[in-house]
Amino acid sequence: MNYGLESPTFYEISILRQDRGTFSTHAHRCWDVGTSLQVSEPANEFEMHRGAGKRFLVGGGIGVTPIVGMATQASRHCEDFEALYVCGERRSAVFEEELLRLTEGALRLCLTRDISVVAAEVGHFLAQVGPEDHVYVCGPQGLMETVHDVAAALDVHPSRVHRELFAPVTRADSSFEVVLQRSARSIRVHANQSLLDALIAEGVSIAYDCRIGSCGACLVRVVEGAIEHRDTVLMQEDRDAGNVACACVSRAQDGHLVLDL
Ligand code: FES
Repeated sequence: MNYGLESPTFYEISILRQDRGTFSTHAHRCWDVGTSLQVSEPANEFEMHRGAGKRFLVGGGIGVTPIVGMATQASRHCEDFEALYVCGERRSAVFEEELLRLTEGALRLCLTRDISVVAAEVGHFLAQVGPEDHVYVCGPQGLMETVHDVAAALDVHPSRVHRELFAPVTRADSSFEVVLQRSARSIRVHANQSLLDALIAEGVSIAYDCRIGSCGACLVRVVEGAIEHRDTVLMQEDRDAGNVACACVSRAQDGHLVLDL
């Protein structure tokens, strides 16, 4: 969704059809331009900073959609920004024209599926990032990690690199034990299960929203155990303190956690 606009009178959404995607298949089959949908107001958890410093915007695939919103906002407020658009092929670059217009022709377009080529392009793009600047990236996990790694190599402070995920970070998992301190119950979180799902399956009442570690709705207090944080919402100080975790994506580093539940 192009949600960088203030007080919008309409929302522009982009839905990439995936053959096994229930929602995207339904939307492509049943919706058309002009279809009226009842929606609640979207929450923006990927907001662009206001004020000094340039914005370096990186969008990959359909993840470019919020980047278009940011470019629109920056352009409207005459804020300094540059944009890099990464796509596997030109026919997928559906926002090329719009970004070209917003950047007044200065869009950097990278058409490849070769991650080493993408890394080189991201390196050129981020080479100009200054101490006041911010980097924003949205797209596939590989692109996010590339931007993160390149920015780190260029000494861009992590607090100035912002990203939005479409899906949780995936990696091999192990099961672990969770003790609910207040109710003195013990729950096993299976390797293919999130802590959030394990808690819900056991009837624990817990708030949640995005399920990908980007909204903070499912934060739980941790009273014991080392947390493997996989969210994109906590500040580094919170991670270092180690007493709060996003239940939808976080896991135990050493096989067990004790929660204040
Ligand atoms: S539900 Fe959004 S961070 Fe867990």
